[in-house]
Amino acid sequence: MASDGPANYQIHTVDVNTSNDYFGGSFRWSEAPPYKPQTMEEAQGHIDYLYESGVPFFSKEMIRAVFEQCQRKPARGELIYVKGVDGATVEFVSKTGEIKKRTSADGVSLEYLLLDPVISYDCRAHLKHRLWWTGLPGRPPFCSLTIQHPSLEFKAGSNEPVVHWPTQPREEVAQAFQGHFQDWQETEVCQQLKQVLHRHAATHRITKVVGLALSAMSIRVDDCPRSYIQHALLLTLRNWLAERDGTEVTCYAQDPGYRSVDKEVLRAHNIQVIDDPQAWLEIDDQSVVFSVAPNVPVKEIVADIARPGIIIWERVGFEDADQEGKTSSTDPSSPRVRAMLEGYELFDFGAEDDPNFCRTVMYIRRHQG
Ligand SMILES: C[S@@+](CC[C@H](N)C(=O)[O-])C[C@H]1O[C@@H](n2cnc3c(N)ncnc32)[C@H](O)[C@@H]1O
Repeated sequence: MASDGPANYQIHTVDVNTSNDYFGGSFRWSEAPPYKPQTMEEAQGHIDYLYESGVPFFSKEMIRAVFEQCQRKPARGELIYVKGVDGATVEFVSKTGEIKKRTSADGVSLEYLLLDPVISYDCRAHLKHRLWWTGLPGRPPFCSLTIQHPSLEFKAGSNEPVVHWPTQPREEVAQAFQGHFQDWQETEVCQQLKQVLHRHAATHRITKVVGLALSAMSIRVDDCPRSYIQHALLLTLRNWLAERDGTEVTCYAQDPGYRSVDKEVLRAHNIQVIDDPQAWLEIDDQSVVFSVAPNVPVKEIVADIARPGIIIWERVGFEDADQEGKTSSTDPSSPRVRAMLEGYELFDFGAEDDPNFCRTVMYIRRHQG
């Protein structure tokens, strides 16, 4: 263990509990950008134009290309190349190992040790908001994939990371999950979910279930059951399919917030925890996708990469959160998402008003595939 502050903290040898603070990598254009907007309106219009003309903002190929570079764990100063949606290549400079200083609202000096880079996802509305925040001079690139560094937080002078939400003991988490799963199975919402599946998805070809952003169960046991109940729903989906088909079905869960206790507890129920961006690479037309209140634009990413047989997520409306001055959303709706869902039938199975979910409904693809 290091004795002289965060710079020598052995980040690769311990089960790290990252802070909630992520730090963006600095960037530069590899070549002059192909398009130089003169006004903010023109720049905003260009993002809309690219979107409306069908340019993919997300594809498995794009994600794989950036992921492969992140997997090499680029040292501080090394470059990661990303192609923008306008075709411009952008270089992000890795800041792994850098220390950032901040003072908290109550005057405490904090230091953040930047960890290996991960992918950050920006959909159309995010690119537009980013542009409004920064203004046109020195504007950010039109990149739907960028680089950011998770971090460990230290009080200045200390060499032990601050852990805001301690991990609960494995046995307690396992027991709480078991209890919540049993209670959940008795609920009206669970019964209705199964009825809808039996009636409307009995013959869809499905080979895997993918849960996204269901959050770490291990940071809570009693006070907030949301994460437990959402994972219980994931288990119900997997069990329903396994019963329907008489075979084992692969069930994945991706959330960067999972700790080793979550991974162990979920593994004991045959749910495989995968690291970002593996879920996007797994999702296909024969998947069930389930997410609740994600901090990542799940809807826009899925709409660009696949037509899953069953989707369970927030009811999609017409509020796209892409207007200046309007609050941004981490997972907004968009015209592409609505166009995709025209091929789906919508079912309210009772989770829409349930506080354990977030306006959650089910979409089943009309074409069984
Ligand atoms: C607002 S919380 C919602 C958690 C939980 N579903 C709920 O309803 O309370 C957003 C979650 O999105 C997760 N998240 C962020 N980026 C993600 C990614 N790339 N893939 C999957 N989950 C992600 C966060 O770790 C966090 O657990």
